[in-house]
Amino acid sequence: MRTGRFLAGTALAFVATLVVTQCSRPAPAPASEGPVPVVSVRELMQAIIDPLADNVFDAVAAEMTDKGLVEHSPTTDEDWAKVMQGAVALAEGTNLLKMHPRPVTPADYTFDPKERGAGAPELAPAEIQKKIDENPALWDSHANELRAEAIKVIDIVKKKQADKLFEAGSAIDKACEKCHLEYWYPGDKKAVLEDSLKRATPGPGTPQATPGQGQPAAPAQPGQK
Ligand code: HEC
Repeated sequence: MRTGRFLAGTALAFVATLVVTQCSRPAPAPASEGPVPVVSVRELMQAIIDPLADNVFDAVAAEMTDKGLVEHSPTTDEDWAKVMQGAVALAEGTNLLKMHPRPVTPADYTFDPKERGAGAPELAPAEIQKKIDENPALWDSHANELRAEAIKVIDIVKKKQADKLFEAGSAIDKACEKCHLEYWYPGDKKAVLEDSLKRATPGPGTPQATPGQGQPAAPAQPGQK
């Protein structure tokens, strides 16, 4: 009887499908690997932190030109989007900085012992690494300071408060410097402190520099090496 055979066949196929489904049920998903550092602190600085910080630092500036004081600040949506890219890259970049263990410099990095190491102005990468490893919480607290300032800029962008950008940029610059003074060129700490005490509060009409460019004297001119 055709119908009976057909039905039986269907039933068999159904059972077979059940069996196959049960056998090929996927194994439980393996635990996620979690974040893995890819580059060194130095490369993060060079590729993300430093160039994107410029989006914030360069957003407002006042320059003395032949025509007098020329100020500029974000006006178009595009201008504001650029500042947002900088602020978000810095805020989220601090999460990358807090991923341990991340090497300080790339494996093939070489340096002049006159510039880095015992008796030189900058700590050698191994000395920086040791400081981080001994007290990762201190390192993280510096990253958190930068994050807090970057979050303020995100908020400023959302409200388009151009008049608050200069101060916010200066605060970001300070957070960068504080970490560098702790880990990279701690020998400059005293000079920087004296310099900041000497520096008078700018009076009305005093041309302002772009934040991020008023860094202490050598060797604190990151990006120029
Ligand atoms: C949590 C600590 C920390 C913070 C915050 C930090 N940096 Fe750095 N940065 C370092 C360390 C450590 C080095 C030195 C890496 C090395 O040994 O070469 C460095 C190096 C650099 C360099 C030098 C790269 C080169 O090619 O010589 C630049 C530029 C730089 N940082 C910019 C910034 C800017 C801009 C900010 C803030 C927006 C910032 N950093 C915030 C830790 C920090």
